[in-house]
Amino acid sequence: MRKTIVAGNWKMNASKETVNTLILGILAGMDDVKSEVVVCAPFPYLSQVEALITHSQLKLGAQSLNINADGAFTGEVSAEMIKDFGAQYVIVGHSERRSLYGENSTLVAEKVKAALDNDLTPLFCVGETLEQREAGATEAVVSEQINAVIDLLGIDAFLGIVVAYEPVWAIGTGVTATPEQAQGVHAFIRQLLAGYDDGIADMTAILYGGSMNAGNANELIACEDIDGGLIGGASLKAEDFLQICRVG
Ligand code: PGA
Repeated sequence: MRKTIVAGNWKMNASKETVNTLILGILAGMDDVKSEVVVCAPFPYLSQVEALITHSQLKLGAQSLNINADGAFTGEVSAEMIKDFGAQYVIVGHSERRSLYGENSTLVAEKVKAALDNDLTPLFCVGETLEQREAGATEAVVSEQINAVIDLLGIDAFLGIVVAYEPVWAIGTGVTATPEQAQGVHAFIRQLLAGYDDGIADMTAILYGGSMNAGNANELIACEDIDGGLIGGASLKAEDFLQICRVG
């Protein structure tokens, strides 16, 4: 059985005050949660979250990383630094990083490597734009994104990777993929991995992301190949986020 994972991606939304309220709110409602729950905080708040979640089952993640260990990379943050704050996860290849900051699949694969080399679990995001979906290119796009990682690291790397399928047209738009649309791509991703190794494909957690909320999480996570969610907007309110966490 694959474990259900629910990860919150706060993006660039936080203050010391909201982080405090949000984390304490989540912790207060975690008793009946069986999923693995992760919060991916902006870099300046990693330390604050680390302190708040000590001795709890809540896990910490970052939202990006630089592939280098240290050196003259002004403004960047390494995997070692993220680890230093007790984080276990890092989002890699989010579509906002790909489209706004020019991260291509080759760089994303190198980031996956940097995360794995430092015992961080990459939440490795893939997904197509609306234009690509309408052109019938969804499978080609997702294959290219996944194959870049397999080409660099081999299929065994997926033993340490969590995949997140995030159709770009569903992110932050309120338009969620239907369970059929999402399950279709999730099954395709699992098949793609199975083409290299059946066992690894079966063990790999594949999360759905894109306007998942308390109202639609149930039917999405109920799908055979959907193993949880990567949640943006709905991860910013403790009660909304907890309702999704309780689904798994
Ligand atoms: P959303 O974001 O839930 O606000 O659509 C998901 C994501 O970008 O990871």
